[in-house]
Amino acid sequence: MTSERTLLLVKPDGVQRRLIGIILSRIEAKGYEVVELKKLTATAELLSEHYAEHRDKPFFPDLVDYMSSGPIIAAVIEGHRVVEGVRSLCGATDPTTAAPGTIRGDLGCDWGTGNIENLVHSSDSPESAAREIGIWFGKD
Ligand code: RTP
Ligand code: MG
Repeated sequence: MTSERTLLLVKPDGVQRRLIGIILSRIEAKGYEVVELKKLTATAELLSEHYAEHRDKPFFPDLVDYMSSGPIIAAVIEGHRVVEGVRSLCGATDPTTAAPGTIRGDLGCDWGTGNIENLVHSSDSPESAAREIGIWFGKD
């Protein structure tokens, strides 16, 4: 088996709603391994690096406010084809239309705040995963 790693974040709404256990439990129940785990409140600088692809988008300032509004759980998850597997467990970006059975579809809700609060982040490619794990956990 060739192992792969991805970055999972439980966003501030997930931590505030006491969903850390349920979210990590779904990932472990699928068969993936949690190999690194920590709780921290992200700075604007860290988020600006993490979400570099969105820096010029109109929603970026609100995204930074949301993501720095409270503690986050950062985790490195390992397994075969884990990048696409964890994306699949998380579901689509918009919690209203995310498929039932996914974390965002089952547990996420659009609260009408104008912000997409969707509980989790996961890397979208092995290249993004390597970059993001370096940002949140330091480079090896
Ligand atoms: P993520 O990076 O957090 O895993 O989410 P994603 O790949 O599903 O979605 P992405 O397009 O990368 O967007 C990153 C996060 O920005 C917020 N967002 N707000 N108001 C908006 O139009 C908007 N679009 C995106 C969401 O919190 C999304 O997860
Ligand atoms: Mg993304």
